Amino acid sequence: MATVANDILIAYPPVGDHRLRRIVALPEHVRVTVGLDSSEALDALSGAASRAGRTIGVYVEMDVGMHRVGLPDVDDIVELARRASDAPGVHYRGVMFYPGHIREHVSQQTPALARLRADLRERIDALAAARLAPQVVSGGSTPTAFASHSVDSMTEMRPGTYIFSDRTTAEIGAARMEDCAFTVLATVVSTAVPGQAVVDAGSKALGREPLRGAAGEGFGVLLTAHDVTVHAMSEEHGLLRLPGNGGWRPRVGDTVRIIPNHVCYSVNLHPVLWAVSDSTIVDRWEVAGRP
Ligand SMILES: Cc1ncc(COP(=O)(O)O)c(C=O)c1O
Repeated sequence: MATVANDILIAYPPVGDHRLRRIVALPEHVRVTVGLDSSEALDALSGAASRAGRTIGVYVEMDVGMHRVGLPDVDDIVELARRASDAPGVHYRGVMFYPGHIREHVSQQTPALARLRADLRERIDALAAARLAPQVVSGGSTPTAFASHSVDSMTEMRPGTYIFSDRTTAEIGAARMEDCAFTVLATVVSTAVPGQAVVDAGSKALGREPLRGAAGEGFGVLLTAHDVTVHAMSEEHGLLRLPGNGGWRPRVGDTVRIIPNHVCYSVNLHPVLWAVSDSTIVDRWEVAGRP
């Protein structure tokens, strides 16, 4: 990322020497900010940055309902922000949260967004009262992206799935199926069992992620026939349930494009993406950041 961006946020706790070494080795022209939620992570980052003669930005991560990482308690948030503003080698830049718990259909998010707005206000007021008002309030997700303006204290949003969109995003109304820009190209390898076709894309190509926050079965749908789902998979086999009443009937050797339930998993399973415009391959993108 440092070769294409000069402002990088690492929205993940920087715990462990292997992470700290890479953070402080980033090129000097890159403005680096790290989200963290513990004094252990802060102290280690402060030490590594000081030793390297660097200043690394810090967001104090808050839990506002997802219960994954982030401090839930207001006093603890203020305490860690104070520590960050006093520590050498780091610069307290603000706070972050991830509203990953808001997965309702976009038409039903209003109560959850109102709660989020109130919870953020309480935390930001407490920080301001302690003279630690955050310069940046970083939040956002793909399901809430289009409602970001209603979370009035937020100054930065981080939608990611949004880049390509996927079946889950479309099902919860945060995109349309035709907005989905990522598909897995698969070949029909068998139609031997009546009522189904089998393609050469299973869990190793699509990821085994259920629809999250949306109703529906299966692990993906055909780009050109949304009623055809990948209803079961093994590692290299995707089983397509064929629609009744003379619908789509593929032949062995046909190719199909599948929109996965969750694009982030599927991207991570492929070393290369082919950029296609009007059925022509126009670019080849290496997926460089696969763990
Ligand atoms: C901390 C954090 N920020 C932003 C995102 C992007 O969110 P989304 O996948 O809803 O676009 C994620 C996704 O997992 C995340 O974990």
